[in-house]
Amino acid sequence: MSVKGKNLMSGVVLVGAQWGDEGKGKITDLITPEFDYVVRYQGGNNAGHTVIHGSTQLALHLIPSGIMYPQVTPVIGNGCVIDPAVLLKEMDSLTVAGFSCDRLLISGNAHLIMPWHLALDAASELRLGQNEIGTTKRGIGPAYQDKAARSGIRVQDLDDPHIFRLKVAAALETANALLTRVYDARPFDVDAVSEQYLQYARRITPHIADVSAVLNAGLRTGRRVLFEGAQGTLLDIDHGTYPFVTSSSCTAGGASVGAGVGPTAIDKVLGIAKAYITRVGAGPFPTELSDATGEQLARVGGEVGTTTGRLRRCGWYDAVIIRYAAAVNGLTDLCITKLDVLSAFESIKVCVAYEYLGQQYRSVPSSQTAFHHAMPVYEELEGWGADISGCRCFAELPAAARAYVERLEELAEVPVSVIAVGPDREQTIMRGWRA
Ligand code: IMP
Repeated sequence: MSVKGKNLMSGVVLVGAQWGDEGKGKITDLITPEFDYVVRYQGGNNAGHTVIHGSTQLALHLIPSGIMYPQVTPVIGNGCVIDPAVLLKEMDSLTVAGFSCDRLLISGNAHLIMPWHLALDAASELRLGQNEIGTTKRGIGPAYQDKAARSGIRVQDLDDPHIFRLKVAAALETANALLTRVYDARPFDVDAVSEQYLQYARRITPHIADVSAVLNAGLRTGRRVLFEGAQGTLLDIDHGTYPFVTSSSCTAGGASVGAGVGPTAIDKVLGIAKAYITRVGAGPFPTELSDATGEQLARVGGEVGTTTGRLRRCGWYDAVIIRYAAAVNGLTDLCITKLDVLSAFESIKVCVAYEYLGQQYRSVPSSQTAFHHAMPVYEELEGWGADISGCRCFAELPAAARAYVERLEELAEVPVSVIAVGPDREQTIMRGWRA
């Protein structure tokens, strides 16, 4: 029985291989019909992607885009932090668009983002001044701080008004002291917050489920599960460019912890990378282009954040980062998105190594100082100077575009099995992807 059960495991993790915003939403939406469950396992509404589904365009931040497929069960795992106001707003906009949210499962162990988390996020960034992280100010960091401190409030607490009020009162003792005495900000009222959240509870508690048990039971009977990563490898709390990171485990291993399944449930890890690279917020960025080329990439690529509307910093593709992402996530496949954006360039650079103090690095240096001062070593490749947005198979791409993809594949030592050449679902080249 155990051997048979093991063979049936069919989990796939989809993960950002850069600093987020790689176009994960489009690829998730594209491959979702192959799955029975789509699971968010970390982060909260700091994430965001626009999903174009038929004639409907929706910006989703928290709910997996699997909600748009009636045969799929969308799941929010224990590793996530949930702002109930945002969740309910998202459920409302989905309902208005004709998508039922009845199937949504939420882990009772996921943590709640409370109003003071947003206030503390903003106050802490303000205090940091020039040294700010550039957070999305959605309260993500403070919510995970409380989780780690074992003083967080979880989704399951919404089920018991008495316990909930006690927990709010206990948490506010510390949060209000911090807000008023350290940050000179306004305190929160225990009753007002409790009442507001207990109102939200009425609509949220029917969705609470033992997510780990549901997924493990499904996996044992051959159901297929897609674990949808948010943010990206270099924003991971452990493996990213700390401290300029988010507060959760965005890498593939996070799927196991953040959903309650063993690592043996995961068969494939699909890394998503843009054909160039972007970052929002502060922190090191070796291939950043602070010139007209960078502006052109931002303009042609429409590089404005879905969640915050901030302009993204742009740079050439960094193969050092992808090699690192391949290692820390155990990538089995790579998907290159926005290849069409590079059609605007006569020649294209790819960073193949870094130099720092006379030493060459082919993987991300473990020393923060070395990474902050790393100088990119570039290889220059020929552009293709043609519109590729209509190409639907690899052979249809111009020779120079094929050579570019093949070079990225060689540098990553991971097969490029999906290529996106435009925002629509159809604008995708499947090159051997199999879930
Ligand atoms: P936080 O997650 O709001 O705490 O922000 C921490 C860092 O992660 C900041 O640099 C944000 O810009 C970045 N970040 C958070 N979520 C995303 C995302 O979905 N895409 C890109 N960057 C993100």
